[in-house]
Amino acid sequence: MLRVSGLTAGYHGGTVLHALDLTVPAGTVHAVVGHNGAGKTTLVHAIAGLLRPTAGGVFVDGQQVTGRPTHHIARAGVGLVPQGRRVFAHLTVAEHLRLAHRPPRRPRSGTAWTPDRVLELLPRLGERLGHRGGDLSGGEQQMLALARALLGTPRVLLLDEPTEGLAPVLVGQIRKLIVALADDGIAVLLVSPSPGLAAACARTITVLTSGRVTDRLDGAAARANPAQLHEALALAPAAKA
Ligand SMILES: Nc1ncnc2c1ncn2[C@@H]1O[C@H](COP(=O)(O)OP(=O)(O)OP(=O)(O)O)[C@@H](O)[C@H]1O
Ligand SMILES: [Mg+2]
Repeated sequence: MLRVSGLTAGYHGGTVLHALDLTVPAGTVHAVVGHNGAGKTTLVHAIAGLLRPTAGGVFVDGQQVTGRPTHHIARAGVGLVPQGRRVFAHLTVAEHLRLAHRPPRRPRSGTAWTPDRVLELLPRLGERLGHRGGDLSGGEQQMLALARALLGTPRVLLLDEPTEGLAPVLVGQIRKLIVALADDGIAVLLVSPSPGLAAACARTITVLTSGRVTDRLDGAAARANPAQLHEALALAPAAKA
């Protein structure tokens, strides 16, 4: 499981994320929703080691990984699906899978992810093995970014806006995948500006406003009463349209 305590981070001496606390138990989805510029990517980067926190702690299964290099945090079991997918335009799908396959160092509960297992979950990628990243559709690139993260057999999966720019039918597919991965035992942290996606799959929803937690909702309650989450978000001032 993932625990973040008092996490504070920013850029060039300025603070963006202010003493954020959250917990993602194994087998559950925790969604962080907030408008553009709220600090969602900053949070994900501070957890994954792409940005060094200035205070607070990040714990994976009780192991403190705060401020460690990204490869150390990845080996501790944190997988990242970055905003914008960031697939390599000139590498084929097969090459991406080969490079990303990293059997876990320590034995973990559950089955390790292999390219074959990933292709069972994401069969569309199997039809595209010889295609370059740059030639894939947005949905296929998103699947490839997810495949890449899974091939490290993560305990914790950080998903930064995994449905950005995708057609509704693909959003539905990604939602089902997120739920299936949590059911498989992974702790999923989903950051998204979309209250719909968050309410559809999260056990807990944190509302982030200008880098601060301004609300915390139960996912089941938000599903039963969608207006609750919309109200919580409407209170958050939009940084940009
Ligand atoms: N590399 C950077 N250097 C300086 N400031 C940054 C940097 N990255 C982000 N910021 C600032 O930090 C704040 C939070 O940005 P962040 O990217 O975390 O927001 P976000 O919630 O992920 O937004 P979006 O929904 O647009 O992805 C913004 O004010 C942004 O301008
Ligand atoms: Mg972002």
